[in-house]
Amino acid sequence: MSGLFPISASTEALKVDTLFYILLALAGFITLLVFGLVLLFAIRYRRGSKASRADMPDLLSREMEIGWTLATLFLFLFVFWWAGSADLSALVPPKGAIDVHVLAKQWMWKVEHSNGAREINELHVPINQPVRLIMQSQDVIHSFFVPAFRMKQDVVPGRDNQTWFQATKLGTFHLLCAEYCGTDHSAMRGRIVVMRPEEYAAWLTRQPEGDDLAHQGAALFVSRGCSGCHAGSSNVHAPKLAGIYGRSVQLSDGRTIVADEAYIRDSILQPKRDIVAGYEPIMPSYAGILDDGEVQSLIAYIRAQGTSAGEDK
Ligand code: CUA
Repeated sequence: MSGLFPISASTEALKVDTLFYILLALAGFITLLVFGLVLLFAIRYRRGSKASRADMPDLLSREMEIGWTLATLFLFLFVFWWAGSADLSALVPPKGAIDVHVLAKQWMWKVEHSNGAREINELHVPINQPVRLIMQSQDVIHSFFVPAFRMKQDVVPGRDNQTWFQATKLGTFHLLCAEYCGTDHSAMRGRIVVMRPEEYAAWLTRQPEGDDLAHQGAALFVSRGCSGCHAGSSNVHAPKLAGIYGRSVQLSDGRTIVADEAYIRDSILQPKRDIVAGYEPIMPSYAGILDDGEVQSLIAYIRAQGTSAGEDK
């Protein structure tokens, strides 16, 4: 089979491939059955043959009708359930996954690890560990496509796009952009390097020390004026942000919402949308003022405060 199919190198790839082979076998079986019967009947009931052409007994024909209708119905409901659950599991990252931030732009993939290590058009990951990708686009829709992982996730500007994978093979795999995004779309390629855990750790420490996202966020928090209202010492009546990440927040219209990446992002760019109960809608929008990389840094800063304050995530 290898040669016909792309190499399969993640837990999701195994699921997708199994599903594909089962569907292929089912479709093949039914095709053979139908064509076999066509051939058989064509010979058996050819002109001049002595085969009986009398009606089938009523009872038998009804049982057959009900039988094959139910059998195929359940078979395809089962396939639907199976494919659906495989698809849904691709959306929910397991706990304890490594977080990697990805910024897509015309025409490159910029990657930032949680310790601040940066890469362009490359992503180094350890084998057999779930990796969560938190992705944003700076301009148009891109799509993070790794054929060997059977994984493709659109990166839509103005939204938090998440996906995850767990590599099961060492080596280097293609990363492609699968959404036409302009002139150099076809050149927007990279590679995923899957390493042994100890090699990965060594690689990570070898990277030049950059400010990590949370530190950049902390600087932005002050330079962009967020701290004027949201710092613990501020007199302005605005929600304090330490420990807010991952918590449920009560909104003024009675809804409750979890303060995840998407919520924090919306609160920065469309602050009038979800007002926290007990506060006035006085915050200006930062859409067009902060770019996506800066929003990512601020979110990382707020998240880091949540965990360092000992709050549960
Ligand atoms: Cu980015 Cu196509």
